[in-house]
Amino acid sequence: MADTTSKRRVGIYPGTFDPLTNGHVDIILRGARLFDRILVAILVNAGKQPMFDTAERVAMVREVFREYPNVEVDTFDGLLVDYARQKRATAIVRGIRAVSDFEYEFQMAGMNTRLNPRIETLFLMASERNQFIASRFVKEIARLGGDISSFVPAAVNRRVRRKFSEM
Ligand code: PNS
Repeated sequence: MADTTSKRRVGIYPGTFDPLTNGHVDIILRGARLFDRILVAILVNAGKQPMFDTAERVAMVREVFREYPNVEVDTFDGLLVDYARQKRATAIVRGIRAVSDFEYEFQMAGMNTRLNPRIETLFLMASERNQFIASRFVKEIARLGGDISSFVPAAVNRRVRRKFSEM
């Protein structure tokens, strides 16, 4: 029987994080209180053209959480359930905003459960102030010269601005 009393409960928080937003930060901090370790797992091969390459996205998360020893950063490729099994994760953590995310998340959790019923998906409701934040919009606002400082951590804002000044 599985050990359900282990003190080393690992939560995996997977995503694209292109870039990390305050919404992600909030879920990671809440996850860090629920699990012994929270593993931020950045998808390598997203099939889309990211603004930040994998190494940059890893560096961003590391910079923001450098004072949180139980927040770790890793990358993964392939199936999330396989990665979660390899890492002996207790659960996959996903944040969910109002109704907009529900269908996609419901489907993904269902498919993942079918692939591996032993891996739970745990949903955390996005905090009220982060309900509308999305990486996609953050990138668009930044590209069009808008102020993203209330949507992302300062370290991410600096990197986004640097990225646009390089372009
Ligand atoms: O931040 P995102 O883009 O919403 O994260 C999506 C992510 C990375 C969680 C999802 O695309 C994923 O798990 N991809 C890995 C491949 C996989 O397991 N696909 C089957 C999902 S049912």
